[in-house]
Amino acid sequence: MTAITDKVNYHAEGNVGVITINNPPVNALSVGVRAGIQGGIEAANKDDSVSSVVIVCDGRTFIAGADITEFGKPPQEPSLHQVIGSIEMSNKPVVAAIHGTALGGGLETALGCHYRVASPKAQVGLPEVKLGILPGAGGTQRLPRVVGIPMALEMITSGNPIKADKALEVGLVDEIADGDLKSTAIAFAEKVVAEGRPLIKISDRDEKLQAAKDNPGIFDDFRKSIARKARNFEAPENCIKAVQASTELPFPEGLKRERELFIELMEGEQSISQRYFFFAERQAAKIPDVPKDTPLIDINKVGIIGAGTMGGGIAMNFLQAGIPVTIVETTQEALDKGVALIEKNYAATVSKGRMSREAMDKCMSLLSPTTELEDVKDVDIVIEAIFENMDVKKELFAKLDGICKDGAILATNTSTLDVEEIGDVTERPEYVIGLHFFSPANVMKLLEEVRTTKTSKSVMATCMALAKRIGKVPAMVGVCEGFVGNRILHRRSEQATQLIMEGALPQDVDRVLFDFGMPMGPFAMSDLAGNDVGWRIRQGKGETSPIADAICELGRFGQKTGSGYYLYKEGSRTPTPDPVVEEIILKASADAGIERREISDQEILERCIYPMINEGAKILEEGIATRASDIDVIWVYGYGWPVYRGGPMRYAEAVGLETVYNSLVAYQEKFGDYFKPAALLERLVKEGKSFS
Ligand code: 3HC
Repeated sequence: MTAITDKVNYHAEGNVGVITINNPPVNALSVGVRAGIQGGIEAANKDDSVSSVVIVCDGRTFIAGADITEFGKPPQEPSLHQVIGSIEMSNKPVVAAIHGTALGGGLETALGCHYRVASPKAQVGLPEVKLGILPGAGGTQRLPRVVGIPMALEMITSGNPIKADKALEVGLVDEIADGDLKSTAIAFAEKVVAEGRPLIKISDRDEKLQAAKDNPGIFDDFRKSIARKARNFEAPENCIKAVQASTELPFPEGLKRERELFIELMEGEQSISQRYFFFAERQAAKIPDVPKDTPLIDINKVGIIGAGTMGGGIAMNFLQAGIPVTIVETTQEALDKGVALIEKNYAATVSKGRMSREAMDKCMSLLSPTTELEDVKDVDIVIEAIFENMDVKKELFAKLDGICKDGAILATNTSTLDVEEIGDVTERPEYVIGLHFFSPANVMKLLEEVRTTKTSKSVMATCMALAKRIGKVPAMVGVCEGFVGNRILHRRSEQATQLIMEGALPQDVDRVLFDFGMPMGPFAMSDLAGNDVGWRIRQGKGETSPIADAICELGRFGQKTGSGYYLYKEGSRTPTPDPVVEEIILKASADAGIERREISDQEILERCIYPMINEGAKILEEGIATRASDIDVIWVYGYGWPVYRGGPMRYAEAVGLETVYNSLVAYQEKFGDYFKPAALLERLVKEGKSFS
């Protein structure tokens, strides 16, 4: 065994040279790996005892891509291009042995090899678009030459990987290993030599490009097909252009075009934000005062209290992860309704071809519906998802404390109530935690986890791990009204309402925020969620909101009643502005003695967004969130903040903290202390520092 670098070894096994990469955790293509592969290829070509080469990785995965931490730093030789070039130009056939995930530069490296063998569970893909860039080491030129233009466009613009069997079917891998991957790849390499198979250079292959050369309209059709999903994103367009270049330019020129388009993206604000977000998401999974080796509680069975839309949605996550769920309702009728909704949701997924009938049956078989609370006595975690009423929740938690086995976690899905107060009615406050799922709970990725001052480390670590098991992205926060997500949302809602009192209309505010990149504006969102929810909460607290109340008094609860801030045609979700609402708004302004004025889009944007950032700063000051980036994770995954703007806190840094601060001060002078900058924001600006 020869160490080529500290991350790559070379040795001969029989007449096959084996290059082994070992760069935990994901064998990213750091400079030592690149140099090692190149050195390994040179060594194998000089080694007379070998006639072929296998590239294989130690650890949990094949190369998962370029080393993202190297982006933005001065480039170090050899470049990935040079490495892949040297693989492709090798005089001896090179076989990639793929396990885990061959992603980005990892797949590009494999595409530089002459053949590819994969383990059955391997996945391959080019996820660069998710980082706001494009495959920049030949991926946009080589992949289309193997799988054809339509599939290459789909893979490169979605960033989603495909499984080994699919990769075999489309010729992206040449063989699936039944047994040990390395031995299979070595045997494959020997076979290539024995059979005198050619050194297949993908860069020389053009036959799969012909169909698109004959029909260049395919690119515009594809653009249109992804327009909605790709709205405002820059990377998908450059991906399409790069793939198109593969049909218009010879391979070396195509590579140059790919490079230009890659650099354009790499230097842009969107990619900086998306790369920031990649690490933000992974950071959020770590809680500074909870060590990595904290013992976890085994979770094999889950109880859910409440089979409404939320409870049912939460249950679906666990069922899909193969975890049995006991779901409890107070009446048989409500229970049946809840179970029927779960079944209907699964059936819809099956009918769209996104789930097999067997998988659906398996999920349903793991569900135990009951009207007996006692039936959760042996579960490992209970998640309460009943309506938001402190007294009712306290009563329920006291009961659950008596019913559930020792060591079971008691979680609440409350989005507003004090989790500490709920936990204090039990004899096990250290086992009580908030697990705030977002609606629809089976779809939204965020899980806002709420620790009290008593929640144990083990419970926190278990719930963070559990989130990952069910495919959620968790962020741990502390107790405060609305926690992190809704507390910040309230600031935006207040300003949205204030703006329509002063002169804007709902469609103005919504348009500005939609154009900014949000999936919808605050008024369309309120119509979707149901205006009656806030109305009832206000009534309970004895609060009023003239416009919102007037709208609810007319029974305009939103989409479900066909009208709210907007009108909805039957069966349509498209909001249409309504003169009735405008009248209500004008009257409310007049009643409040406000002289309406023209409000610019810039003011709408700043007044909706800057108070959110300011609230985020207060949340950090109070220690409710650990890091600014956790707030960003919550807003991207819980509220659809555009990932290419990184999240509200990252956006503040892109705009400049000083700019945000100065605007807040100006608004404070005009409108009062509502806009007073948070002490943290003021300090950071004075010290020239950033949130991160
Ligand atoms: N570069 C640097 N670090 C990386 C990395 C990469 N490409 N991929 C993952 N990591 C780090 C993570 O930050 C994390 O670090 P931490 O433990 O300090 O938080 C650690 O590796 C483990 O990552 P995950 O927590 O994500 O591990 P999982 O097992 O859940 O997932 C994975 C593994 C599927 C490989 C996932 O990490 C992933 O999707 N990685 C990114 C893949 C990617 O985007 N590749 C393309 C890179 S860009 C490129 O190749 C450009 C080229 O075209 C020129």
